[in-house]
Amino acid sequence: MPFSRYTLVLLGLLLGACSREDETASSTYQPVVDVHQSMVWIIDPAADMIWDSAGTIITAEGQQELEPTTDEGWQKIVNSAAVLTEAGNLLMIPGRSAGQDWNEYAQGLIAAGSEAIEAARNQNADALFDAGGRIYSVCKACHDQYMVEVDDTDE
Ligand code: HEC
Repeated sequence: MPFSRYTLVLLGLLLGACSREDETASSTYQPVVDVHQSMVWIIDPAADMIWDSAGTIITAEGQQELEPTTDEGWQKIVNSAAVLTEAGNLLMIPGRSAGQDWNEYAQGLIAAGSEAIEAARNQNADALFDAGGRIYSVCKACHDQYMVEVDDTDE
């Protein structure tokens, strides 16, 4: 007989332990805002702060550098980059995560966001611009897979 009674009891205990762990995990986290709200209220404003502070724009007066010119200005980018980076963890908590690919995109956001934190702490405009590009590719990759086109013509 391949399974003794003892093995089955052990297996039962192990399975019990696993499901108890899952229960603990989902009761520890208490997601408040839904995915749409976390995009619009947390992630998008934090990403805009980075994108609006990297690169150059052409205005009527000529070429203008967007990078901050003061320590306070750079610190604001550090703050937003930290929010954006940690939002990757928010996306992965039970109740928000949509599975393994989703979690990989969220981890991509953490990696690219961490580069932005580093760049802003070093007040390195080129590195911030590069990190901004990587952040954008992560947003786009996840949206391509998970954002369902909604037909809101009736609303
Ligand atoms: C892990 C997946 C994932 C990542 C990463 C992600 N998004 Fe989203 N995003 C979604 C999904 C799914 C939706 C659609 C949910 C909804 O709006 O109901 C969405 C919706 C949005 C919306 C609302 C769009 C609309 O028309 O209402 C904005 C804005 C947005 N995301 C911005 C961003 C930005 C900026 C980034 C990168 C910094 C980003 N998202 C990264 C999954 C992701």
